[in-house]
Amino acid sequence: MEFINLGKSTLAAEYVAIEIFRQIQKNKRSKLGLATGGTMEPVYADLVKLIQSNPLDLSEIQTFNLDEYFELDKESTQSYLYYMKHHLFNHIDIRDEQYYFPDNDAENLEEDNKAYDYMIMQDFPINLQILGIGTNGHIGFNEPGTPFDSGTRMVHLTEETITANARFFDSIEDVPTKAVTMGIRTIMKSNRIILLATGEKKKAIINKLFNMTYPDEAIPASVLLHHPDVLVVTDDAASPY
Ligand code: PGA
Repeated sequence: MEFINLGKSTLAAEYVAIEIFRQIQKNKRSKLGLATGGTMEPVYADLVKLIQSNPLDLSEIQTFNLDEYFELDKESTQSYLYYMKHHLFNHIDIRDEQYYFPDNDAENLEEDNKAYDYMIMQDFPINLQILGIGTNGHIGFNEPGTPFDSGTRMVHLTEETITANARFFDSIEDVPTKAVTMGIRTIMKSNRIILLATGEKKKAIINKLFNMTYPDEAIPASVLLHHPDVLVVTDDAASPY
């Protein structure tokens, strides 16, 4: 696992956007694993700018989002589908059938989750997976204690995550307590992973990760120590050095 501190958060986001852009430029059939959250908003804004000002064939890419709130109406402005449309998909030339989310309704949930994992791995794995990190070390919505061999599934969110995400809702009572997330096993199958962490609130967890030698299920992101190609990008505020 490599760490790079780029100083300003704007530069850290720009760097990640450029890496996504380069991945598509290198391979127009790229599979991208995408994340949501506050940290990713400037990344998608920069990516939109890059794509709008430089020719790039997006017609064959496929994107797979990490997670979605359980049983939340996909049209709701709080859904991650809405987030992705608002920040990225509506501004670039991509068709509905090119982007995928874990299915978030109860009917046939287990089968649908298995199908998501299967689809992600079909033909070839995700070329570039983008991750944020929770203050508790979660990746996707894989909360502390998640077995490292977990696939896509329904999960209960921790109080820490619910509190952190309350800022996107009118009140904390409105935050869903369950979600469907890509599993840790699924994430680990990606060829390359970039984790972006910015802001003071992420400093403690990044520092912990930086100083870990062995993965520990209590800190889900520490599984990345086992992955051969992970870059952790930070700004000064979140930097471990
Ligand atoms: P954030 O979320 O970017 O809103 O801090 C990151 C995460 O929970 O993975």
